Amino acid sequence: MDLLVLLIVLLLASCAQSLDNGLMRTPPMGWLAWERFRCNTDCSTDPKNCISERLFMDMADRLAEDGWKELGYQYVNIDDCWAAKERDSKGQLVADPLRFPSGIKALAQYVHAKGLKLGIYADLGTYTCGGYPGTTLDKVELDARTFASWEVDMLKLDGCYSNSSTKALGYPLMSKALNATGRPIAFSCSWPAYEGGLPPQVNYTLLGEICNLWRNYGDIDDSWDSVRNIINWYARHQNVLQPAAGPGKWNDPDMLIIGDFGLSSEESKSQMALWVILAAPLFMSNDLRTISKCDASILQNELLIRISQDPLGIQGRMILWGKNSIQVWTRVLSSSTMALAFFSQRTDMPYHYTTSLSQLNITAPQVFSAQNVYSGKILHGLGFETKFTVTINPSGVVMLYLYPGKQLTLSRRDKAYPLLL
Ligand SMILES: *[C@@H]1O[C@H](CO)[C@@H](O)[C@H](O)[C@H]1NC(C)=O
Ligand SMILES: *[C@@H]1O[C@H](CO)[C@@H](O)[C@H](O)[C@H]1NC(C)=O
Ligand SMILES: *[C@@H]1O[C@H](CO)[C@@H](O)[C@H](O)[C@H]1NC(C)=O
Repeated sequence: MDLLVLLIVLLLASCAQSLDNGLMRTPPMGWLAWERFRCNTDCSTDPKNCISERLFMDMADRLAEDGWKELGYQYVNIDDCWAAKERDSKGQLVADPLRFPSGIKALAQYVHAKGLKLGIYADLGTYTCGGYPGTTLDKVELDARTFASWEVDMLKLDGCYSNSSTKALGYPLMSKALNATGRPIAFSCSWPAYEGGLPPQVNYTLLGEICNLWRNYGDIDDSWDSVRNIINWYARHQNVLQPAAGPGKWNDPDMLIIGDFGLSSEESKSQMALWVILAAPLFMSNDLRTISKCDASILQNELLIRISQDPLGIQGRMILWGKNSIQVWTRVLSSSTMALAFFSQRTDMPYHYTTSLSQLNITAPQVFSAQNVYSGKILHGLGFETKFTVTINPSGVVMLYLYPGKQLTLSRRDKAYPLLL
């Protein structure tokens, strides 16, 4: 399809309503505790790594001081296991008094003073997944008001210990209740992940109207297998998922685990690139106090972040899944630019992949320049028929940023030898 036609089709598709709280017009970025710190509440033997106000203050410090905030990583998000085991006498949720002695409001103010935002977690059910007090339907409005009074900026509402009918009532109810507080609170819904995924037992049009983002699929774990499963699941179901996303409403393939223990450097680059292609929320779950320079540089890649935050907010698509275990993905971007990613699930050796835009059915209205987002290398004069070769490492990715460039006269040598990127 012609790139312009594709753009118009996608724009029309994404014109449906989105949650009208003005938030998350581009994919949200920040940090979320769950994958890395789980439900570690043992502050007596593991004070630095337990779920406590200290952990979130540490991460806020790092986000503010190590260059993350300037790049857009602005949310510091609490997940499960922050609450006391019982509500208070007024029925309100309260933070665990030993681990959050200052309370959530003080933590929010600490985070705000750093120019960041605070997210919190609740569960639409009898209990949270970790066994803390849940938000039953009768508590939805109270909990929304509590979070607003604590100056919280985002709520992740999980779905353990409830059934489908409770969820069908509760998620829209919480969306209304958050709105009624008058405080802009971004809303992350775990609803679809609990409804068997696909074929959709949830109405994605409705989701886009009540949630800013939603988890579609199972939790990410600290392993390459887990990342690969998620990518392939999104690839298989993209016809349903891709049109559901847009400014203010995002599919959430779960956290970035770059900087943890499960991924090699190639795999880390792949997770980041694919999450950016998917216009996914970029919530890291790692230890920002000890992350290596190399892992930080992947997460802080400015060109990738610019692509992630493209104002059109169009989720990318897989356009080819070859027998050679190479997937080709594209994401349409503003100003006649686009991202093109070659992702390898091979396990042998670096793979030379020769193709052209015409071979990929990408009809470009102009000649492109292509910048490799990781190496920085630029290839000029990429026309419709220009053959080029990328070398993709096992479990690795080559991602190109394509922008209108000028026609170059290729020398005979360049014509004879495909350009290597
Ligand atoms: C509540 O919803 C209305 C109408 O959709 C919207 O204009 C307003 O900005 C929302 N307020 C908040 C705080 O989300
Ligand atoms: C779902 O849970 C609610 C609240 O516990 C209960 O009243 C309702 O009967 C349940 N519905 C089904 C279909 O199990
Ligand atoms: C899905 O939700 C939208 C918006 O709320 C609604 O208009 C539509 O009828 C729903 N579709 C189905 C199949 O229920």
